[in-house]
Amino acid sequence: MMPVTGGASFIGSHLVDALLTAGQEQVVLDNFAGGDLKNLPNGVKLVKMDIADARVVEVIVELKPEVVIHAAAQVSVADSMQDPHLDLAVNVQGTANVLEGAKVAGARRVSSSSPRAAGSTASLMTLTKPPCRVRRATTAHTGTSGSATRS
Ligand SMILES: NC(=O)c1ccc[n+]([C@@H]2O[C@H](COP(=O)([O-])OP(=O)(O)OC[C@H]3O[C@@H](n4cnc5c(N)ncnc54)[C@H](O)[C@@H]3O)[C@@H](O)[C@H]2O)c1
Repeated sequence: MMPVTGGASFIGSHLVDALLTAGQEQVVLDNFAGGDLKNLPNGVKLVKMDIADARVVEVIVELKPEVVIHAAAQVSVADSMQDPHLDLAVNVQGTANVLEGAKVAGARRVSSSSPRAAGSTASLMTLTKPPCRVRRATTAHTGTSGSATRS
């Protein structure tokens, strides 16, 4: 089981596709702040919730994930300038909630698509002591506003 936060996003939904093709059972956690239901393939279990909500920890623990893929993020630079508290809530507290859920569940890894979804490497290492490790795939991304629909 590999839950994907932000699985309805441009990045997340491609990961969901790839994991389904590889035969992995999928659960997407997303609040659709920027993602789109149309991005999700049929048959994917969906938990609609805000990762900034502390209850996401319980949700992840109940899923008993081996790996958590974290792609949920507030990516809009404009929104970030207007409301920095939103970034704090989603990108910092939300990420901390996801890491906590993974740690309590005993997941062996949290994989994140970028610093937007995952904060700095230093903070990740602090939050994810063994057995939970964090892997960051990329480092650069310019945020955009609005819904993400795949081409
Ligand atoms: N698009 C790119 O080219 C690219 C490249 C490298 C890294 N990234 C990173 O990948 C991640 C996803 O980026 P994207 O471009 O797919 O953006 P996106 O806006 O499509 O993805 C964000 C996803 O997170 C969800 N989300 C936002 N706030 C949430 C919340 N509070 N609770 C639950 N879900 C929430 C949105 O609904 C959306 O599905 C980001 O961390 C981004 O920095 C993107």
